[in-house]
Amino acid sequence: VSEIRDIVSVADLRAVEALQREVWGAEDRDIVPLNQLVAAREAGGVLVGAFDGATLVGFAYGFPGVLDGAVSCHSHLLAVRPGARRRSLGYDLKRAQRARLLARGITRMTWTFDPLRTINAHLNFAKLGVIADRYIVNFYGDDSQTTVDRAGTDRLWVTWRLDDPIVRRRLGEGDAAIGAATDTAIDTAADAAADAGSAVCVLRVGEDGEPEAASAARSSAAHSSDARASVVVIEVPEAVNEMESEELRWRWRQATREAFGSTLAAGHIVCDFIRPAAGRPNGVYVLRRPEQPRATGALA
Ligand SMILES: CC(C)(COP(=O)(O)OP(=O)(O)OC[C@H]1O[C@@H](n2cnc3c(N)ncnc32)[C@H](O)[C@@H]1OP(=O)(O)O)[C@@H](O)C(=O)NCCC(=O)NCCS
Repeated sequence: VSEIRDIVSVADLRAVEALQREVWGAEDRDIVPLNQLVAAREAGGVLVGAFDGATLVGFAYGFPGVLDGAVSCHSHLLAVRPGARRRSLGYDLKRAQRARLLARGITRMTWTFDPLRTINAHLNFAKLGVIADRYIVNFYGDDSQTTVDRAGTDRLWVTWRLDDPIVRRRLGEGDAAIGAATDTAIDTAADAAADAGSAVCVLRVGEDGEPEAASAARSSAAHSSDARASVVVIEVPEAVNEMESEELRWRWRQATREAFGSTLAAGHIVCDFIRPAAGRPNGVYVLRRPEQPRATGALA
């Protein structure tokens, strides 16, 4: 049984450095060192660890931020040691960060992740209830040396509204009677799945595993009307990072860059990620236009 607690001692801070090297295969110059962790923590950051006994097996690190004039927390790192994954530690670490921030009256956390990483997409959207309205090309440049960035460093910028009723419901808090949803969020994965059935798909996984853009054989007018549809889905395969073919990895990067770029520019917001229970191991991102009323349920 693991315990989630604040990381305080020098020994545990050194373990955070070591875990970064292990999880990201990063050079020393690419890890966040002890001094920075301590300074950020003392200035209002959140640094929590998952421990098996005395051994650190995961951690989450965020530093204070100011966005649109309000204090927030930017969670820069989340990692769980490979041997300790799929035990909900990633989820528990995010919830521990959230609890600490809410106790200080901070209601927004941001972070970034690579949308080709479907495990993270599932954790972020389906389990935690984040939304994303920004896609950033090569956020950390195009020469990353880590083992997890094998096709540039494109990222989705996600926002977690810590006290949002939708988020509370995703986390299993509160009661089902909580009525009003925010305009951008959707309340259950089932709703999203139902919507996705009638949504415009701008990118899908072809039979051969290649990206298939909906616009490929269509006029640009049809493409731009797709981008304006109320619900849009973008399908991605699992584990692009592990694909052997470098060319295929890059084709997926290029295709998703274009799909997210055009739909976000048209005003959509990414609000869910759905993995089918069976069948093809792909997942779909669900994007909505915020001003679009939902087919069912209440809107704020
Ligand atoms: C992302 C990461 C922190 C998740 O850690 P974790 O402790 O395994 O996460 P959880 O157990 O809370 O898993 C979250 C969900 O993803 C699923 N999941 C995790 N690993 C999976 C895998 N290999 N295949 C399929 N699903 C997986 C879990 O089953 C769980 O979903 P479920 O509850 O619906 O079953 C971990 O994979 C990691 O350290 N990755 C490398 C670093 C990284 O990507 N950091 C985040 C950068 S933003």
